[in-house]
Amino acid sequence: MRKGLQNFNQNDSINNNYKIIAVDDEEGIVDSLSIFLKRSGYNFTGVTDPMEAIEKVRNEHFDLMILDFIMTPIHGDQVVEEIRKFNKDLYILLLTGHKDLAPPLETIKRLDIQGYCEKSDKFDQLLLLIESGIKSIEQMNQIKRINDELSDTYEKLEKAYLESIQTLRYTVEAKDTYTRGHSDRVSEYSVLIGKYMGLSDDDLRTLQLGGLFHDIGKIGVPDVILQKDSKLTDDEYSQIKQHPNIGVHILSNASIFNDILPIVEHHHEKYDGTGYPRKISR
Ligand SMILES: [Fe+2]
Repeated sequence: MRKGLQNFNQNDSINNNYKIIAVDDEEGIVDSLSIFLKRSGYNFTGVTDPMEAIEKVRNEHFDLMILDFIMTPIHGDQVVEEIRKFNKDLYILLLTGHKDLAPPLETIKRLDIQGYCEKSDKFDQLLLLIESGIKSIEQMNQIKRINDELSDTYEKLEKAYLESIQTLRYTVEAKDTYTRGHSDRVSEYSVLIGKYMGLSDDDLRTLQLGGLFHDIGKIGVPDVILQKDSKLTDDEYSQIKQHPNIGVHILSNASIFNDILPIVEHHHEKYDGTGYPRKISR
């Protein structure tokens, strides 16, 4: 016990970062906890009214709650029930007068109460529970920080991905102004039809990108053919007909475009088989 206390004293400055609220309708218990936990360096708040405790947690940040079970006007489990409606993160330890009076295990699990112990004049067991609770809170905070960083990185990657898509689009637009409006419309109408068909969000996104890029292979068709006003010769037309294959070649170099390759490859095929032939080896 003495050793445990020493450890807590050494960690005073760290403990002070964590806010603990204790709720017990017996003032003596709150006072004892206050002396004990403040001595251990915790930022401590004691409350004797369970209803006031709920409001405090609603309006102020606490990391850990120590909660008496049998109280008036409402019991500890009802206090947790209320708090869980707006706060899922608070680490809660329940104090019970006697083992038999503890709430059923299923209630403890359902309300996400992290631990409980019997009241005692000594606070050995409670201190251990608080210490392990603080460690869990530290770990959870660390996981949250890592998740935030990951989601930040993901957003940056997504932004870079969209920017690279735009760059490719501008390349096509610079060559062939007809394609610009056409591809935008194909993309828009495809998504509308996809929505009508009840496709998933992922499929709709694939359709949207596929529409925007289906003609990207025109980059590989000579300008004189693309911009020719008069009728195309058979040879010129056969070069135009290569653009789905060229598009697939261009996009298949980046795995992010994998999902739209079939759209690009088949977009001039027809149900009756009179569409563009597609002979390509990826
Ligand atoms: Fe096309």
